[in-house]
Amino acid sequence: MDSLGGAIVEVGRCTFSFVFSRLSTLRNFNGNIKSLHDEMVKITRLKNDVNEEISIGRMEGWSPTEQTNQWLENVEKLELEVQRVLLEAAQTNATSSVHGNHLCINMCCQYQLSLIARKLCCELKQLINSCSFSKFTYVRKPPIKLVERLQAQPFVGQKAQQRLEQLLQLLDDDRFGKVGIWGMGRVGKTLLAKNLNNKLESVAMREPFDVVIWISTTKDLNLKDVQSQVAKRVNLELDAEESIDRRANRLLEKLLLRKKLLLVFDNVWEKIDLDILGIPHDDGQNNCKILVTTRFLDVCRQMMTDIDVKVDVMEDEEAWDLFAGIAGDVVKLEDVYPLAREVARECCGLPLAIITMAKSMSKKPMVQLWRDALRQLKRSCMQFGSIEVFDSLKLSYYSLPSKILWWCFLYCSLYPENYSIKASELVHCWIAGGLIVGHQTLEEAFDNGIALIEHLKDSCMLEEGDTVGTVKIHGVLRGFAIWISSNEPESGFSCQCSNSLQSNAG
Ligand SMILES: Nc1ncnc2c1ncn2[C@@H]1O[C@H](COP(=O)(O)OP(=O)(O)OP(=O)(O)O)[C@@H](O)[C@H]1O
Ligand SMILES: [Mg+2]
Repeated sequence: MDSLGGAIVEVGRCTFSFVFSRLSTLRNFNGNIKSLHDEMVKITRLKNDVNEEISIGRMEGWSPTEQTNQWLENVEKLELEVQRVLLEAAQTNATSSVHGNHLCINMCCQYQLSLIARKLCCELKQLINSCSFSKFTYVRKPPIKLVERLQAQPFVGQKAQQRLEQLLQLLDDDRFGKVGIWGMGRVGKTLLAKNLNNKLESVAMREPFDVVIWISTTKDLNLKDVQSQVAKRVNLELDAEESIDRRANRLLEKLLLRKKLLLVFDNVWEKIDLDILGIPHDDGQNNCKILVTTRFLDVCRQMMTDIDVKVDVMEDEEAWDLFAGIAGDVVKLEDVYPLAREVARECCGLPLAIITMAKSMSKKPMVQLWRDALRQLKRSCMQFGSIEVFDSLKLSYYSLPSKILWWCFLYCSLYPENYSIKASELVHCWIAGGLIVGHQTLEEAFDNGIALIEHLKDSCMLEEGDTVGTVKIHGVLRGFAIWISSNEPESGFSCQCSNSLQSNAG
């Protein structure tokens, strides 16, 4: 009897403690959920701190350890679970207040959630406490190379070689901080700069550069892209999300650590603001030198270059060497040789025209084909073997800031090739032709005409003539002008090769 009584008491005690523990778990539902929420806030903060530390560390050349990555992964997994529990808890709270009759079901849910919350809370605490491991390991980045070699074919011609020597001297001269290389489209500015870049690896200078940075730019300049190109060369990681200003500050800091720098900006279409980018310049000692290649002298002016080197078209003999080198043995054939020389001459020294024409005539031994090509070139209606030449010039043409400049340029194609046009005469023709309008006096119109000529010269669409006060249109550009006026109706001009002009401009 005693033992039965004892058993009953024991069962009763167990039942009581079981019910009591369940009731207390249920009673602590809100408390457990709140603790869970609090721990979740703590761990999210901690995770953000660790992530921030990692991104700063990365910029300094450090990388997170395996343990750090694992910790972050665990936190993210747990966060998802916690978010689900918190959401469910909020829902059961809402239904118990709206539908009191679901009280029993809710109590079951809350009991379950309370249990899970307690368990998750412990896990969160453990993760928080375990975050004292070493977070980084140093990643050794490859040492910064003085020069990154660029793919560039060797020069043909003595003049190009001389220009390279001249540039090397300018870079070695402390008086010149910014150097401009300018000239018409496809004349060889980039090739010159690339050869210079490659040469700097081996050349001995008084104060050699400790890094040469090549930056390719495009017509639509992307400042962040330019910053990234520079940063990459000095092993600096920039965050794409950061503002241009912040990136500029960090870039400037890093570049100033270098003793002597050279930055080459290739194919610049408009002024690049070095301050906005975070590129040091004009420090008085010219420790950071800037080289710019552009089609427009105005870009050099705007960027305040100290000296500008003009790249001109090739001279006859050099043009022939380039042509013959590409066209191959066929030009040595007795009948072909004189025609080939003339074809090369018709490319007016523009390397791209020479190259494309030579490629299109290589392996063509039939003399008739050479005669035909020459005839077409003389009529200026052949596109030098490919549309590429005119396409590249089109960019310069459409970059002219007004239609008046288009018309004035096209007008020049009425003059014969290699003809030095008197600037004053040209302006009077423009005025008489109704191209320059909207001026009160003849003097105003004349001055405006001279300004237009200068603009065309600075954009390499016209060049100095043989005598003072004259200008010329380059043979390839003349061909291009004739081509554009007959192929693009909106040009407002219709020029024909026979030098007659019908203008419907204005
Ligand atoms: N002296 C040279 N010898 C051999 N090839 C040359 C020479 N000059 C230029 N070229 C070739 O002519 C083509 C045009 O040159 P490049 O791209 O350097 O011109 P660019 O002046 O930079 O043109 P853009 O104004 O369009 O930037 C290239 O294929 C280049 O290799
Ligand atoms: Mg170029």
